Amino acid sequence: MLNDIFTQIKDQWVRAKHQKKHPFRYVTLTTVASDCTPESRTVVLRDFDASQLTFTIYTDARSRKVKALQKHPVVQLLFYDHKRLWQITVTARLKRMGASPTIYKQLPPPSRKDYTTTAAPGTPIDHPDHVHYKDENHFYALFFEAEKVESLRLKRPHHLRAVFQRNDDWKGQFLTP
Ligand SMILES: Cc1cc2nc3c(=O)[nH]c(=O)nc-3n(C[C@H](O)[C@H](O)[C@H](O)COP(=O)(O)O)c2cc1C
Repeated sequence: MLNDIFTQIKDQWVRAKHQKKHPFRYVTLTTVASDCTPESRTVVLRDFDASQLTFTIYTDARSRKVKALQKHPVVQLLFYDHKRLWQITVTARLKRMGASPTIYKQLPPPSRKDYTTTAAPGTPIDHPDHVHYKDENHFYALFFEAEKVESLRLKRPHHLRAVFQRNDDWKGQFLTP
């Protein structure tokens, strides 16, 4: 049964890569800033490798999350499916991050534009129209490898909670919900 749950979780992440409306396509990424403050934000799950349990996120190299990752390479990814009352938290480690001209070239032009603002994301502006773009891009791909996956599904008669860890060969363990 634990094995089935883990397979189901991975299957949902694979689906989320292709299905624009899949609830796991948007994920909360939490990093830890240099002063130890947690910082959460929504990002898009761009890729998932089920054999390595790696997640890919795209971002701007100048963003706060990149600064945080340079100091603290461990993150939490929070997925939530509101229809199935299903929450999955992933503790993951940054494997690598950097520019990727190959991925960047494959993005649709409107998406590419997001990584070309003249000012860094988060820079104060006087008006929302005061955003300028340049030819140079600051596109970064971030690759995270899961270390721990915890799943909680609210159901009757018993809620279902389980944890899976890389250092335990993803064997799995049920937990009191
Ligand atoms: C629906 C939605 C999807 C988003 N997807 C991404 C994304 O894939 N990558 C990203 O860097 N920011 C994305 N953002 C913006 C982030 O939530 C965040 O505001 C931005 O990355 C700056 O974060 P930081 O300053 O904490 O690094 C998204 C925001 C929303 C509302």
